[in-house]
Amino acid sequence: MRILSGIQPSGRLHLGNYFGMMEPAIRLQDEGEAYYFIADYHSLTSIHDPSQLRDNVRDVAIDFLACGLDPEKAVFFRQSDVPEVTELTWILSTLTPMGLLERCHSYKDKIAQGVSPSHGLFAYPVLMASDILIYNSDLVPVGKDQKQHIEVTRDIAQKFNDRYGEGEPLLKIPEPRIRKDLAAVPGLDGRKMSKSYDNTIALFEDEKALKKKIMRITTDSIPVEDPKDPDDSYIVMLYKLIASADEVQEMEDAFRRGGEGYGHFKKQLLEKLLEHFAPLRVKRAKLEQDPDFVEDVLQNGAKQARLIAQETLHRVRKAVGL
Ligand code: ADP
Ligand code: TRP
Repeated sequence: MRILSGIQPSGRLHLGNYFGMMEPAIRLQDEGEAYYFIADYHSLTSIHDPSQLRDNVRDVAIDFLACGLDPEKAVFFRQSDVPEVTELTWILSTLTPMGLLERCHSYKDKIAQGVSPSHGLFAYPVLMASDILIYNSDLVPVGKDQKQHIEVTRDIAQKFNDRYGEGEPLLKIPEPRIRKDLAAVPGLDGRKMSKSYDNTIALFEDEKALKKKIMRITTDSIPVEDPKDPDDSYIVMLYKLIASADEVQEMEDAFRRGGEGYGHFKKQLLEKLLEHFAPLRVKRAKLEQDPDFVEDVLQNGAKQARLIAQETLHRVRKAVGL
């Protein structure tokens, strides 16, 4: 089974990225051939400063390795080190209906946020389809908000097979893998944690900044002594991601009992977060000292990924008559 996923280097990775995509992807590296990449071509739609893009790519690489991506098990690479993916994008574009892209939520959301749309932003799902199809992927672990893009990918692959397959599936139809136990990770204000909302907790936030952020989590104004409802508290939602069932139960009981203010629970959350990510921080600090190792991993990964991409592209070019 081939597992594939990508993440954009468009800012510091946050807890939503970690629990929605990175952690599940890292767990899957033991269950098949995993291919994970840094989607730098995609990020060109939002990052226009070359040195920032390079820094972000390096940071994402280090973050992912620090979180447990094992280069002995998974092929890890930069999207743009396999330029074949852009040629396949063009070929797929010629059979992608405009309407399919016009319906994409992520595009419509960006427009609603006032982003002035480029052709690249509009065509973004076709590049994503190409990413997935060029590696003959079976399974694509992503957060919920990417589900529609996987559906678009499946549609495009089906259209390609119908038009050129002569009864044989030329492109493999992939399946999404979305964590069912996890609704979107809430941000500090309770909306989905996202860098577009400025409500994120970065994975490797320094301790002081982390404390400040946790203290910013939105709560209601129920007084200290009164009972509180744990079910719609963002503190509890975040705590659930990292604490044991017993610890969660304890916090929920303390909410219902009353007698403790939200500041107390925020402190518990802070301590748990620091404890949970402590070993990863140590690993990250080591990787930061070894940029050559990180670069080697990405280049070796690209070599392996490229072999598969070239083989698929060869097949596709032949099928369409190029
Ligand atoms: P952002 O919303 O900050 O721009 P991205 O769109 O780059 O994040 O998301 C990268 C990956 O992380 C995707 O697979 C996405 O589904 C997942 N993800 C992002 N935010 C969350 C969240 N709050 N909860 C769960 N998964 C998330
Ligand atoms: N669009 C994805 C995101 O913003 C990143 C991505 C690009 C991706 N290509 C992919 C994810 C292929 C999975 C498979 O999160």
